[in-house]
Amino acid sequence: MCGIVGYTGPSQAAPILLEGLAKLEYRGYDSAGLAVRDGSALAEVVKATGKLAHLADKTDQGRALPGTCGIGHTRWATHGDPSMVNAHPHVSGNCSGSGSGTVESDVVGVHNGIIENFAELKDKLLRHGYQFYSDTDTEVVVKLVDYYYNKYRIGPVDAINRMMVRVRGSYALALMFKDYPGEIYAARKDSPLIIGVADDAAYLASDVPAILKHTRSVYYIGNQQAARVCPGQVTFYDLNGDEIQLPQTEITWDAEAAEKGGYEHFMLKEIHEQPAAVRDTLKSLLKDGALSLADTGLTDETLQGLGQIEIVACGSAWHVGMAAQYVIEDLAGVPVRVELASEYRYRNAPVPKNTLMVVISQSGETADSLAALRVARERGLETLAVVNVIGSTIAREADHVLYTVAGPEIAVATTKAYSAQLIALDALAVRLAAVRGAISEEEVQRLTDELAAIPDKISRILEDKDRIQWFSSKIANAHDIFFIGRGLDYAISLEGSLKMKEISYIHSEAYAAGELKHGTISLIENNTLVVGVLTQPKLFEKTVSNMAECKARGAYLMGLTTHGNYAVEDSVDFTVYVPKTDEHFVPSLAVIPLQLLGYYTSVNRGLDVDKPRNLAKSVTVE
Ligand code: M6R
Repeated sequence: MCGIVGYTGPSQAAPILLEGLAKLEYRGYDSAGLAVRDGSALAEVVKATGKLAHLADKTDQGRALPGTCGIGHTRWATHGDPSMVNAHPHVSGNCSGSGSGTVESDVVGVHNGIIENFAELKDKLLRHGYQFYSDTDTEVVVKLVDYYYNKYRIGPVDAINRMMVRVRGSYALALMFKDYPGEIYAARKDSPLIIGVADDAAYLASDVPAILKHTRSVYYIGNQQAARVCPGQVTFYDLNGDEIQLPQTEITWDAEAAEKGGYEHFMLKEIHEQPAAVRDTLKSLLKDGALSLADTGLTDETLQGLGQIEIVACGSAWHVGMAAQYVIEDLAGVPVRVELASEYRYRNAPVPKNTLMVVISQSGETADSLAALRVARERGLETLAVVNVIGSTIAREADHVLYTVAGPEIAVATTKAYSAQLIALDALAVRLAAVRGAISEEEVQRLTDELAAIPDKISRILEDKDRIQWFSSKIANAHDIFFIGRGLDYAISLEGSLKMKEISYIHSEAYAAGELKHGTISLIENNTLVVGVLTQPKLFEKTVSNMAECKARGAYLMGLTTHGNYAVEDSVDFTVYVPKTDEHFVPSLAVIPLQLLGYYTSVNRGLDVDKPRNLAKSVTVE
């Protein structure tokens, strides 16, 4: 959601900013803009709605904008519609039009996040003579900084600090001040922002891919901290305005990891990276061949004493929690509650003692998941974050961290991060069961071996993807698709349905198969596609019966099951098989054909697979 970039150094800024924004396109946006300075008091502000290419065209790929210091932004609309006037950057001076062109303004800024008390602050600024040209909370925050800057005649850091004390909400801000040419000022709270310094230049960005070409050493600014970014140098400040030292983090993955590498879409590339993501995540949890959670800091005593686990997450990460619930309860006998983070944060559910809260998040920045984590910590719960992005806010704030090793995920629809989370939770379940003596040592070894065999089995499924591609061409015009299953198969259905709807825009629903006859079956018409997930031996016949009920009402059936269950072909119209594994771990295999089905359906419908409409990769607002 919203992407921020900044550059100051010896080179022309605009082409570098555009290149950085292109690497952040995956975050989702509806307009974009740049502000560049060439050392004079004036800033050149250019905005465009729609694709980044429009902004690039307007500025001749950035070449038409002179200046070696600048900031850029891709906007995902929150306050105000997607329009030129609401696009960032925003300026503090009173001006007509959209705040673009050559402007002489004390402060120019870009913002990611939401200022919750912006209406009250806007009123205050209106009373002090400020005028507003946009509907955005960003214009308010830029003008609030300007207000403190001019009222108290203080420096940029002090003005920013006063603003930070006054605003409520989340923000990553990059600001340029008229009186400080060649410098960019930054501040953040609960929205991601990193800074990199290389030789005689410095870079700011919402995420690593935007600056990886220039540097691998990055700083993560903490909450309510500010930074002064100059060519080749950065200084950090706390809320008192005192200088602080922040550690540098070395990014270990390659720039190529964030490129398409010959695939048509990031999503397809990431689907194919799943064997590696699963293998690497599992490897990080194996010590001398045995599963271990030692690196997370969770002790065996804590695991033995657990009375309950609460899993909190959003979207696909929540689906991982739904699957893990069955596995943990079945193997380790520990009760598990799975909560949507957006609901959890506003509920006051009594929590039994010895509860471990597990927050699952690829980005580690999802606003609702972060808020739920904070609520849990306030309630005194021990917390474990299962996170993919190193150094992200959730990773830093949780008591314990289990990093998935999926590498950067660019496509909005998650695939490899989901699979890495799933294997991590499965490994957690087996280790928990082992430590609590819920299963024998032989069983622990057998399950560990089964987990280790998953990556090769995923590769085998991927080798057979042409069948799914063919089937998706048959169903690409569907209006409604239902995914049904029981137990773990229901958890897989949830993810299959989300993969389908988020990138193909076909309405789809996932139902616990037994629930169909309590209402949903009235939606089944001639040729409605029903995908039955049938991987759980004990539930196979029950779900087949539910599919037969749909068939009797005209449904067209696809069955997804494991090799050996060939009798299913008598009941359904199209069957997909995945290799056999322990029943607890089948989701890692069964999800692959469903990801491919969503992917190829989106391609067949000619849609923007990697950047579906209205969605953002990292949901940093509530
Ligand atoms: O970064 P997170 O794992 O916290 O993101 C959670 C959801 O926003 C995410 O899984 C979303 O549902 C995906 N787009 C689904 O493909």
